[in-house]
Amino acid sequence: MVSRAGLPGRGLELLAERCEVVEWDERTPPTAAELHRLAKDCDGALVLGTDLVDSALLDAAGADLRVVALASMGFDAVDQEAAREHKVVVTHTPHVLAETTADIVLSLMLMSRRRLGAAIDSMRRGEWRTFQMDVFLGLDVHGATLGLIGYGQIAHAVAKRAAAFGMNVQHHNPGKPSDSLSRSVELEELLRTSDIVSLHVPLTPLTRNLIGARELAMMKPTATLVNTSRGGVVDESALIGALRTGRLHSAGLDVMVDEPRSEPTDPLFGVPNLVVLPHVGSATEATRAAMVELAARNVLAVLDGFEAMTPVPG
Ligand code: DGY
Repeated sequence: MVSRAGLPGRGLELLAERCEVVEWDERTPPTAAELHRLAKDCDGALVLGTDLVDSALLDAAGADLRVVALASMGFDAVDQEAAREHKVVVTHTPHVLAETTADIVLSLMLMSRRRLGAAIDSMRRGEWRTFQMDVFLGLDVHGATLGLIGYGQIAHAVAKRAAAFGMNVQHHNPGKPSDSLSRSVELEELLRTSDIVSLHVPLTPLTRNLIGARELAMMKPTATLVNTSRGGVVDESALIGALRTGRLHSAGLDVMVDEPRSEPTDPLFGVPNLVVLPHVGSATEATRAAMVELAARNVLAVLDGFEAMTPVPG
């Protein structure tokens, strides 16, 4: 079963060569009931990170289901306990998207600190009259101190890029010591001393609202927050408050709570020092194709009786 139409790359072809594939034929997600119907009697499922993989889905699929392969790195929509109980292997797509997502992190840093979103909007409104020395003045990205919360593959790829920008990189991730790119520090030190804080933790009960009013108050008023992980890691109303009052210089978000967000009156869209993107961190042709292909190969590996290539960490 494949839960979405329009998946790029050759992953679906690989599946179709070996399996009978039932495919949700719309680009919008199936409801839970539709997903359950689609999964019934399937041996494997290829789904997106936003599809809820819970005991209701696993029950509806039935005893034949052996693998659920996510075409995403994040697996916060998966009930891992239920998967273990149903003896279903769950896989995700690390590695293949790290470099592409790191590029978006740098883009958000540059857009937020250099006020590029506001500058583009102003130009589109026809407001550019003359060269002025004192408009759209931002803050430098080169030479800044960058704090990475979470130091996995994506954060490491960000640290490599940051070195080329002459940034001073530090990270907080218990169990990940300092290395040649980044110095390990406590969370509070990171929040107080970083010019840019970038979030690289999965969404779990422990990381939900990890950055709230208290943490934002610790950050420099000249700091920028970048979030490409999951929206729920940040208390959004606290962030909007900090940006509106000038308590925080700027923020760049590729992820938010309750995606998708499209109401023109959404508070997120009315904050001039906030850049928001519609969850495009891994959105290049090559990377999205690689994600689908890896998910398909995970399905095939498990159905062939082999270990999954990239099971979700347990
Ligand atoms: C990921 O891979 O986790 C991206 O956020 C897309 O789901």
